[in-house]
Amino acid sequence: MSKLTGKVAIVTGGNSGIGYATAKELKNQGATVVITGRDSLKVVKASQELGVKGIVADVKNLSAIDKLVEEVKKAYEKIDILFVNAGIFQPAAVGQISEEMFDYQMGINFKGALFTTEKFLPILSDGASIINLSSINAYTGMPNTAVYAASKAALNAYTRTAATELAPRKIRVNSVNPGPVSTPIFGKTLMKEEQLNGFAEAMQNRIPLKRFGQPEDIAKLVCFLASDDASFITGSEYNIDGGININPLLN
Ligand SMILES: NC(=O)c1ccc[n+]([C@@H]2O[C@H](COP(=O)([O-])OP(=O)(O)OC[C@H]3O[C@@H](n4cnc5c(N)ncnc54)[C@H](OP(=O)(O)O)[C@@H]3O)[C@@H](O)[C@H]2O)c1
Repeated sequence: MSKLTGKVAIVTGGNSGIGYATAKELKNQGATVVITGRDSLKVVKASQELGVKGIVADVKNLSAIDKLVEEVKKAYEKIDILFVNAGIFQPAAVGQISEEMFDYQMGINFKGALFTTEKFLPILSDGASIINLSSINAYTGMPNTAVYAASKAALNAYTRTAATELAPRKIRVNSVNPGPVSTPIFGKTLMKEEQLNGFAEAMQNRIPLKRFGQPEDIAKLVCFLASDDASFITGSEYNIDGGININPLLN
């Protein structure tokens, strides 16, 4: 029997990148998987490719999360794995941060993530696993990431408190902090191709293992945290970043 057989898993932002790879791995390990996303064409395409259920729900919109929970409850009653992954990266320099940018990025990466858990709580099985997809940016001073970093640091703070408060129900809550991972997220910024290439090269040079992560690297860690093998792990954060957090002064 596979490790996740019999478990129902929700992956927000599952039509692309890390969410897509994780939905695939969760399914390979035996889980029944539901992916969500904000664009119906992308959600339909990905859910067909993966052979899983797809539901459109923009996490910026709390009533859309309510509808998502209702639909999932109708289909499965309870869920066991909640992968809170949907997120965006919108770089902006200090001094050029608009209220609109702030609200948009915090609205998806923090408010949307937090309310995903809040609203799924009533249908989470006792013993369920929540995994919040954060970022090593929560702990860095990387240029142009002030709001993004704050959104992820806030999410990690929520992870810790939620882990304490949900422990009586044996619900575990953990954060995963990836370093740079090859996904479409960077192409969705307003950065030009040459900027993106320069950014990728500079970043890769700083990573001790000298490569970007692949979505599948993150998927394996998420599936471990989702499984009963991680039954004594809660309130923790896992950096998965090729060693970049070491910050070697010379390399
Ligand atoms: N890639 C990295 O280097 C990296 C590093 C650290 C952390 N992360 C985090 O990893 C998570 C996944 O990112 P990724 O790199 O896999 O990027 P991605 O390929 O762009 O995937 C992000 C997913 O989230 C969805 N999404 C965005 N806003 C949403 C909303 N309002 N409602 C519902 N779904 C929404 C996207 O939908 P669309 O396809 O419609 O945009 C997409 O399915 C994010 O939380 C990101 O911050 C990424």
